[in-house]
Amino acid sequence: MNVSRDIYWIVFVCILLIAGVVVIQWLQADGKASTIPKSLVTTWKEDPRTSRAFTWYTEDPTIQGIVQIAKGTDAADLNAEGVSVWSAVSTVIDTGKGKQQGVHKAEVTGLESGTEYIYRVGSGEAGGWSQPAIFKTEEDDIKSFTWINVTDSQGEVESDFDYWGKVLDQAFRIFPDSRFIVHNGDLTEEPEDEAGWDYFFNKAEKWVSRIPLLPVTGNHDEINEDADRFTSHFNLPNNGAKDSNPGTTYSIDYGNAHFVFLNTESNIKGQKKWLREDLKKNTKEWTIVAIHRPAYGGNSYEKIEDWVKVFDEFGVDLVLQGHNHEYSRSFPLKNGKIVNEGQGTVYVTTNTTGPKFNEKKSDQFYQAMHFQNNKGMFAGITIQGGMLTYQAYDVEGQKLDEFTLEH
Ligand SMILES: [Fe+2]
Repeated sequence: MNVSRDIYWIVFVCILLIAGVVVIQWLQADGKASTIPKSLVTTWKEDPRTSRAFTWYTEDPTIQGIVQIAKGTDAADLNAEGVSVWSAVSTVIDTGKGKQQGVHKAEVTGLESGTEYIYRVGSGEAGGWSQPAIFKTEEDDIKSFTWINVTDSQGEVESDFDYWGKVLDQAFRIFPDSRFIVHNGDLTEEPEDEAGWDYFFNKAEKWVSRIPLLPVTGNHDEINEDADRFTSHFNLPNNGAKDSNPGTTYSIDYGNAHFVFLNTESNIKGQKKWLREDLKKNTKEWTIVAIHRPAYGGNSYEKIEDWVKVFDEFGVDLVLQGHNHEYSRSFPLKNGKIVNEGQGTVYVTTNTTGPKFNEKKSDQFYQAMHFQNNKGMFAGITIQGGMLTYQAYDVEGQKLDEFTLEH
């Protein structure tokens, strides 16, 4: 008996068997790419009183997405004959390692203001639907509303995004009636890693399937002027600066406030021009700007100095910022100087919602509040007629800052 020859044969057969199993699993996995919607997020593209926009992905890149929507809160109405159906624009995105996924963007218009709707998104086939979710359109002449401000979730692994989910859960525990979320950028650490986006949306799904998430573009969202992997996840107003990546600059009205989203990563000059034009047309009582790299946040991003002049010129009330991963709130500022309340712009950075905390920077003359508590944070901001109230909390629900602005 030739023992060594037998061993070679056994090893050879084992290798063949293992290779066979791997090939079969690969073929099965490939043939069964999921049609179940994931990374579902709602936004606005147009008027929050009468429209709602949606974006979701599918592992299966071949399907056409649809939205079913019914007035009220009864999921059974989605199965009723004649339920309203809206087609998504479905495209394919290369998510790396030879993998492609489906991107589905839809918008529903002609809705009634101040009204609850139930909806689901999917392929239209059994097993290919999202969980039904309920949202409410903005009321006409709304007098009071709250939104949540968060920034820099910026996770890499699942546990990082568990933390983001925890911060958001606490935010909605304290501000349960919030109408939308402003996220000041750096949603994930590595935008080319789709697993990060899967976790980001998955951990926030119970909120962002109902409550619009309005994102700012951070330096981890747009890299070398490429923001495709970020913008593919959001269906946003198409009213931004010419020559900016679509979906990275936009503005929207809610209640008596105007919100402007700027992109600190590219086309700074072009956005200055657009910002002036946008603010010239603004008829709202309050003006809120959201940016990633701060104008006044422990340090100042010099490239956006010209934007600050426009904020001063048009009397922007509040600038929401990110990037520095610490807490900073300025006194009211105008022309680089501290001014009386109501005479200038307040700049805030609400730490982070992710696992990364920077060492506290040196205190600046313009800071009314500046600290590093090494805890995830969020702010609830309420506008009630001529009064704005900003309240910042940590992940455990402890209030750490509060201020009001009056008109
Ligand atoms: Fe960041």
